[in-house]
Amino acid sequence: MPRPLRLGVNIDHVATIRNARGGRHPDPVRAARLAVKAGADGITAHLREDRRHISDDDIARLSRDLDRPLNLEMAATEEMLAIALRHKPHAVCLVPEKRTEVTTEGGLDAVRLFDQLQPYVQKLGANGSRVSLFIEADARQLDAARKLGAPVVELHTGSYCEREGVERERQLKRIVDAATHAEAIGLECHAGHGLTFDTVAPIAAIPTVVELNIGHFLIGEAIFSGLDSAIRRMRSLMDKARASVTGAATA
Ligand code: PXP
Repeated sequence: MPRPLRLGVNIDHVATIRNARGGRHPDPVRAARLAVKAGADGITAHLREDRRHISDDDIARLSRDLDRPLNLEMAATEEMLAIALRHKPHAVCLVPEKRTEVTTEGGLDAVRLFDQLQPYVQKLGANGSRVSLFIEADARQLDAARKLGAPVVELHTGSYCEREGVERERQLKRIVDAATHAEAIGLECHAGHGLTFDTVAPIAAIPTVVELNIGHFLIGEAIFSGLDSAIRRMRSLMDKARASVTGAATA
């Protein structure tokens, strides 16, 4: 029986627009409240080492003011660990981070970085945050995440979204296989990166995926239709795709 599918709205790029001019507008915390009203189950924010979008103050205010789960995305560094330990977000997603990248390129290499990641997974989990690892849809990465003791993995959907036709289908199959493997080895499975109205349904229809994290497309689409409308439409596409698997009636 497929589980309900949660939507985490990533508000990083509200902060990108704010930072283009400095000052306070548009405020990501206001966007987070609006996202919750429009159907988000939680809010995701990536505090990057270079603070190119979300700031320390945004994380402090989100932690304090939000009545929904906050999923803090961060690199496994001592600086970020101290921040996460202080704020105790509901969830922490460990991501790879390079200063020169435009966005998170590829998943965390949990096999290669096993020893480096272990204390982060342990300390964050012991501090009460649900730890996830943002990884490629690859059984070896999932097995390493399991061995590290992370309860959750988030599968990188970037390659699936970027490709077209047969190659996209191939990438989708990798994600379906990985989500099946995640369930088999006792990991909760999430997915995200690059998802749009056109690409979300096949991912939402994977019964063992329980959360999608979506940001850039929604914030971009908000320019044309408003954030509320963009999130409601995404939610509806996700829910319809999930209902088609469960056989339940769609609203
Ligand atoms: N999940 C993770 C782990 C991410 O790093 C990102 C991008 O910050 C997303 C989901 C959302 O990706 P997008 O902004 O392309 O929807």
